[in-house]
Amino acid sequence: MLDTASRILRLLPAERGHRLAVRMLRLTGPLLPSPARDDPRLEVDAFGLIFPNPIGLAAGFDKDAEVPSRMLKLGFGFAECGTLTPRPQLGNPRPRIFRLVEDEAVINRLGFNNHGMHRAARRLKRTRVRGIVGINIGANRDSADLIADYMAAFLCLAPYASYVAVNVSSPNTPGLRGLQDRDQLEALLGGLMDMRAKARSSAPVLLKIAPDLEEGALDDVAAVSLHAGIEGIIVSNTTVARPAFLKSDLKSEMGGLSGAPLFEQSTAMLKAVRVRVDGKLTLVGVGGVRTGADAYAKIRAGASLVQLYTALTYHGPGLVTRIKRELLQCLERDGYSHVSQAIGVDVDK
Ligand code: FNR
Repeated sequence: MLDTASRILRLLPAERGHRLAVRMLRLTGPLLPSPARDDPRLEVDAFGLIFPNPIGLAAGFDKDAEVPSRMLKLGFGFAECGTLTPRPQLGNPRPRIFRLVEDEAVINRLGFNNHGMHRAARRLKRTRVRGIVGINIGANRDSADLIADYMAAFLCLAPYASYVAVNVSSPNTPGLRGLQDRDQLEALLGGLMDMRAKARSSAPVLLKIAPDLEEGALDDVAAVSLHAGIEGIIVSNTTVARPAFLKSDLKSEMGGLSGAPLFEQSTAMLKAVRVRVDGKLTLVGVGGVRTGADAYAKIRAGASLVQLYTALTYHGPGLVTRIKRELLQCLERDGYSHVSQAIGVDVDK
């Protein structure tokens, strides 16, 4: 039923289709059955949490934390809401999401459209979700102090978050990606970790990075993350690169590219981060995952957890169950009795 609905939604312009999908999930959610119990071989123990399976929903689908429980019912092992900013904002003018159908990709330049952290916090407080829900935080576009925005969002939302993802990698907010530079990142992560301690919060902190960082910048990100004592890194956000093999006429639209064409770049970056953090931080692999084999490749490249978004818009919600089934087949084929045995095997030789 849901897969048929998602085929119909794909006939609408991208943003209207997305809005309607969230509304339908809100309405039908209570009727959805609970997901089947996951195979114990897929259970992941990471930063103090037990994930029933490693396949998560990436940030951007449920920006305002409207449907985290519904997404968990689709079989995701965890769902990340956001990006949420302290104050509500409209984002960029429409159209701002483009489907590159021939490439199974999307370009978006939404620019953190969201209802603001307070409304999301009220919603999350009311919902009391069962399952793992991360909250992804960012800064307002017109903020005079980007770092202060992250602090405010952390304080407001961490009480409702299984983990907090610090998004310094959206290409659609001017200056935001500059927070990945060494000095700014030190100030941001150092400040957040101090504040977490003072607030007596135990919410794990993960940093979400861009796939466009150079080698030297990656060295800095890894060193600063390890020094600050955060729990993990999410690799990666959308790319501003436009691979030469893109076919769609829409490839020149401004914004971040996601989906199949991002897979190689983000997986190579995942490996590069794994080498630098040497198993000391949990890595989340995201970018172009469409199949169980893709998820497995991310895990072999060093990811304990995997996320996806764009493939869901092309393949519908049945995708989650398929990916988990195929992932188990990959593990069996290679003689692993548990997913944890495959983490990083392509890197740690
Ligand atoms: C995103 N993504 C994203 N990421 C983030 O940290 N905050 C956000 O608000 C958004 N918003 C957003 C909107 C849309 C329409 C898309 C397609 C993507 C990025 C997303 O979480 C993920 O990192 C990339 O899309 C790569 O994964 P996929 O889509 O290739 O599986």
